[in-house]
Amino acid sequence: MKKLVLANLKMYFNITKDIQDYLNNLNDEKENFIAFPPIIYLEKFLNNGFTCGIQDISVHKEGAHTGEVSALSATDLGAKYVLLGHSEIRQKGESDELINKKIKTALNHNLKAILCVGENLEAYNQSQTKEIIKNQISKALKNIDEEIMISYEPVWAIGTGKTPTNNEIEDVVSYIKSLFNYKIKVLYGGSVSEKNIETLNQINNLDGFLIGYAATIPSSLRKIIEVAKK
Ligand code: 13P
Repeated sequence: MKKLVLANLKMYFNITKDIQDYLNNLNDEKENFIAFPPIIYLEKFLNNGFTCGIQDISVHKEGAHTGEVSALSATDLGAKYVLLGHSEIRQKGESDELINKKIKTALNHNLKAILCVGENLEAYNQSQTKEIIKNQISKALKNIDEEIMISYEPVWAIGTGKTPTNNEIEDVVSYIKSLFNYKIKVLYGGSVSEKNIETLNQINNLDGFLIGYAATIPSSLRKIIEVAKK
């Protein structure tokens, strides 16, 4: 089954020339993945015909919020998706309650929300993964009935080169799916690369991948897309 490929480019690109090289390099793949570029380059990606989302949004509609980006400005520009609850933002103090409000804001502006959930290493070692995820999902989705996507991203797997086993991911994905009364799409993120994609792609109940660092290297992303298509 063909799986979705999402590229969370975080803050890896800082120079226009590098972005231009990236866009030129992946122009023939632009239909095959969804890019989450640094916000300052969003318009450039969209103008080049790439399907895009943003890495976060403000909970506020508008006003005196220095440095924040509104959902309306993102959709007005053409973004279709938003990542919410990413662990790199949770670690700076973002609460489940704030994530809940941001998801409502996103849905009100027709942005498709991808909620990131996942346990840290300590919780993983204590077999608390499902408990943590259930808690994150129930708080983040309180009073929300609209369909969203979930990305399972164990904190200890992000940027470390480590991943859970296929069986562990499959088990968590089926647990997440069991919490919903609609056919939710569940992605996996955390050290997905051109080296482990053949293995990870064998997880049958998985709907796609959310890729960080490897997505910044065109040849790696190309390989991941090729395998995820199978
Ligand atoms: P890495 O692929 O760099 O581990 O990052 C994953 C991630 O955080 C995607 O949102």
